[in-house]
Amino acid sequence: MLRHHLRAALAGWTLAALLFAYAPASGRPFWPVPVRGKHAMVASQQEIASQIGIDILKRGGNAVDAAIAVGLALAVAYPQAGNIGGGGFMLMRNAKGESHAIDYREMAPKAARRDVFVDSNKKLIQGEGSSTIGYRASGVPGTLAGFDLAFRKYASHKLKWADLVRPARLLAQNGYAQPYSVTQLLKSYDDKLGKYEDSKRIFIRGGNGYSEGEIFKQPELAATLARIEKAGAKEFYNGRTAQLIADDMKAHGGLITLDDLKNYQAKERTPITGTYRGNTIITMPPPSSGGIVLLEVLNMLEGFDLKTLGYNSAAKYHLVAEAERRAFADRADLMGDPDFTTVPVQALLDKTYAATRRSSINLKHATPSKEIRAGQEAGRESNDTTHFTVVDKEGMVVTNTYTLNDLYGSQVTIKGTGILMNDEMDDFAAQPGTPNMFGLIQGEKNAVQPGKRPLSSMTPTIVLKPDGTLWFALGARGGPRIISAVIQAVINVIDHGMDIQAAIDAPRIHHQWMPDEMWYEPSGFSPDTIAVLAEMGHKFKKKPENVASATGIMIDDKGVRLGAVDSRSDGRAVGY
Ligand code: DON
Repeated sequence: MLRHHLRAALAGWTLAALLFAYAPASGRPFWPVPVRGKHAMVASQQEIASQIGIDILKRGGNAVDAAIAVGLALAVAYPQAGNIGGGGFMLMRNAKGESHAIDYREMAPKAARRDVFVDSNKKLIQGEGSSTIGYRASGVPGTLAGFDLAFRKYASHKLKWADLVRPARLLAQNGYAQPYSVTQLLKSYDDKLGKYEDSKRIFIRGGNGYSEGEIFKQPELAATLARIEKAGAKEFYNGRTAQLIADDMKAHGGLITLDDLKNYQAKERTPITGTYRGNTIITMPPPSSGGIVLLEVLNMLEGFDLKTLGYNSAAKYHLVAEAERRAFADRADLMGDPDFTTVPVQALLDKTYAATRRSSINLKHATPSKEIRAGQEAGRESNDTTHFTVVDKEGMVVTNTYTLNDLYGSQVTIKGTGILMNDEMDDFAAQPGTPNMFGLIQGEKNAVQPGKRPLSSMTPTIVLKPDGTLWFALGARGGPRIISAVIQAVINVIDHGMDIQAAIDAPRIHHQWMPDEMWYEPSGFSPDTIAVLAEMGHKFKKKPENVASATGIMIDDKGVRLGAVDSRSDGRAVGY
């Protein structure tokens, strides 16, 4: 008996020793390990989509080819966020070290004026007609235009456009097993999706829902993708699909017209670049706020010894919250679409500006947000989402975040197309000074204007080692919490020595200046950590909630690609 116990204890010890041997330098030993691939890796929130990306890479496609195929596959297999009716940002770096950013953010339709979501009593419209639900909530979708631009300029051209669309079309035609998480999620979307005929019929099966593992087919979406496979992305903006969108919009008081679709343009932007402790950070410029806020926070935090504080100490969370509070105040006032307003990018990214901002952080006390305004220094200068990352065998990386905004976007499916539309108009300051669905207060620079792109928080990011080689790339979903997830994952790798999976899984906080409250997650925060932070004057969101969900890929010392999808959500990386 005694011997049995001893053997069991020894076996336990061996297991523990093995786990600890794997443990990242200062992380917890029991996180899942990343997926390994000698040649290439795709990390997305749907394993089927990751596999489709790998198949494209094995057929000779590069990371851009794979990213397009993954993006289209997610529009089918992850309809709550993957899309062709939304928009986003694609950031890439090729093996020669050249970086490019593609902005395919939605544009406000021509009919969308500053007060389009405000009623005659100067109150924000709620429900149908608002910026969050129904036909008027959508901006002009950019996804296909963005993928088309990426294909024309940066794909391998060993594969044709149709080769990249076909896997998604077949997935829509033949269906896939409904994941458990989706059957659960849909229960809370019954009422919203149930308001719109095609959404009700397709996504919640007339209100009866789907059971786990049931095969879910989308014949209308398959037909739409078949047209796009044959005629290219222009079919969406000029062809039958465009006509169907414009007709359905007109029939339901929507704002998007055929002209709006014809005029949509994806744009190349110059990525913004900064450094953190000698590593290069390449990230997304406006109209996303993500890159600027990320770099501002990292610049402020560079002045503190986070490594010594430890990844989950109250002292570290305090500093992250204080830096975020200051950078989000800048976001509120100083950022918007650079084609419509001046964003003081260089001033905000300046290390001396960060030093000034940093010097106002009290190490022992939270600064109330009402005492913080957008930085004057910077002001003086002369302006449900999903993320996936691909690294190919040459070392080209594509890191892409795109979205419908809310889960299932505006909840509207355009009649006869299977296309769910975004509710991205809510990312504008529909009424400057009034919080949007994420509680973000935003200013005039982000007011609605025809043809303008709403300010985003999406933060696709690439990190290089001090010698200039690719180290890791990542991004997240979760509105403004995206930025917090990326900040803390970057710190977890650089300061705390974690691998990409541990860095993404580690508990995190979020502070967005207003409302003046810290988000913390339901697990991973001890009551004493919270008590220390409360003692410092931090206020907390009443109900703890997860802070975003991230996805990334890291290259290890031997060149192995390590893929990681956040343990907070579904999905899986696939490598070979
Ligand atoms: O662009 C943005 O910042 C938002 N539309 C992102 C929304 C989002 O991440 C929702 N995800 N869960």
